[in-house]
Amino acid sequence: MAEITTRRADSPADRADCYAIRAEVFSREQGVHGAEKGDRDDAAAIHALVLVDDAPAGTGRLHIVKTRDGPEGQIAWVSVLPQFRHIGVASAVMQHLMDAARAMHLPYVVLSAQTYAKKLYENCGFQPVSPPYTMANIEHQMMVAYLVSRDE
Ligand SMILES: CC(C)(COP(=O)(O)OP(=O)(O)OC[C@H]1O[C@@H](n2cnc3c(N)ncnc32)[C@H](O)[C@@H]1OP(=O)(O)O)[C@@H](O)C(=O)NCCC(=O)NCCS
Repeated sequence: MAEITTRRADSPADRADCYAIRAEVFSREQGVHGAEKGDRDDAAAIHALVLVDDAPAGTGRLHIVKTRDGPEGQIAWVSVLPQFRHIGVASAVMQHLMDAARAMHLPYVVLSAQTYAKKLYENCGFQPVSPPYTMANIEHQMMVAYLVSRDE
């Protein structure tokens, strides 16, 4: 059985692996323009790298945004190379990022889910908070997971 390991991608080599997975999945597979270049939030974000038998397989990112009401976690770029799908790699990415969000006491985390993959996020406690909308020609839905009670 394949061994799945997860780590925070801080080294330049790990970060390059994350960006390469993102480019392969979003740019080449889904045709999302500009996905291969990264964005301005990458430098400060927490990136998860999941390996399958030591081969880079999946990634995702948690970025913290300061809002008027406090910090907001934003997860983006969750992606798994096609040959490693349906064995729990994205779930491992999400677990790592949600653990990091909890460790930082973030009150909630939001993401823009591709609706076909909504179940992945529902499994991690997210619920839809918007009607479906189209972005980069792909149907999405905003989702949120509250990590602490809103009464606390
Ligand atoms: C969506 C994606 C990240 C899932 O990765 P994965 O490693 O195969 O996901 P997992 O094996 O951890 O599956 C977790 C759950 O996600 C859901 N899921 C995964 N792939 C799915 C698919 N193609 N269709 C519907 N649900 C899916 C299932 O509920 C699954 O749970 P189950 O196996 O118990 O049914 C991967 O298919 C991918 O990279 N797709 C292209 C990029 C993308 O769409 N990213 C999401 C952006 S919001």
